Amino acid sequence: MSKVLEVRDLVVEYRHGRNSFRALQGVSLSVNQGETLALVGESGCGKTTLAKAVLGLQPFAGSIILDGHEVDGVRLGQASSVGVVWQDPYASLDPRWRVGDLIQEPGSVTQQNIELGPLMQKCGLGEAFAKRYPHQMSGGQRQRVAIARAIALQPPLVICDEPTSALDLSVQAQILNLLKDLQAEVGCAYLYISHDLATVRYVSDRIAVMYLGKIVEEGPTEAVFQNPRHPYTKLLIDSALTADNIGQLPEAEDQESRIVPEVGCPFSPRCMKVQAECLKTLPTLEGEKQRVACFYPLS
Ligand SMILES: Nc1ncnc2c1ncn2[C@@H]1O[C@H](COP(=O)(O)OP(=O)(O)O)[C@@H](O)[C@H]1O
Ligand SMILES: [Mg+2]
Repeated sequence: MSKVLEVRDLVVEYRHGRNSFRALQGVSLSVNQGETLALVGESGCGKTTLAKAVLGLQPFAGSIILDGHEVDGVRLGQASSVGVVWQDPYASLDPRWRVGDLIQEPGSVTQQNIELGPLMQKCGLGEAFAKRYPHQMSGGQRQRVAIARAIALQPPLVICDEPTSALDLSVQAQILNLLKDLQAEVGCAYLYISHDLATVRYVSDRIAVMYLGKIVEEGPTEAVFQNPRHPYTKLLIDSALTADNIGQLPEAEDQESRIVPEVGCPFSPRCMKVQAECLKTLPTLEGEKQRVACFYPLS
């Protein structure tokens, strides 16, 4: 199966004054044509940082191959390779532009013709919306505009970074179904970023679980949900089932305020199954279909 995205050994560092902080510590993942890979993990683990690196918005070390091109900054015509839907439909659309112009912008940048009417209809927007401004629309409608823009040039990959978490519950389901329907129709792959395990289980084929800037488990979604092998994945799934807000992860502390050991497994300070080896050596992802970075995985 051909890959639309291949990320290898991705490292991103942010500067905090004189110190630097590694938000991504060598992440490798890939997305196959037409599939949905969910990237999950607590707030602050580095999900948006990865999205920004793939979009050329964030300097990084390592390699990212997107639609056959090595990513090295923002490329002209990039919207033909990757679309993006951000979390906040209020901040991500320029308020001075009419909806029709917003949706057609990727086409004008690349001098491609976009048939506005059919595209809007596909995204559940009547053509009358074309003349409106974003502030005249609801959150759900704005997210439909963002989705229309993202798929306007039919890119093989669309990154969705928490696309429903700013929306009301009833609207969330509509947007999820729209994303699913569009995928069935146009065949795009999704990198679906979320901390909401219930929606992840609903939309994704495969899942990658991130903890403090590293992937700790990766595999087919149902296999991972039914038989999580990393203690962190199990903790996530268990806490999502018991949280008041069903499907949501518990509120996490800020990443830097957590104890991150300098050697050994990053999860060892929180792990119930920790042993001597976990404090000395960093485990790498091992396995065939379901891969886990743990010396003592759950069976
Ligand atoms: N522009 C930035 N400058 C400095 N630190 C940042 C910046 N963006 C994110 N971070 C830090 O990097 C870590 C990962 O952030 P982020 O990728 O936004 O996580 P997530 O999307 O999983 O919530 C966090 O600790 C966050 O505080
Ligand atoms: Mg984020």
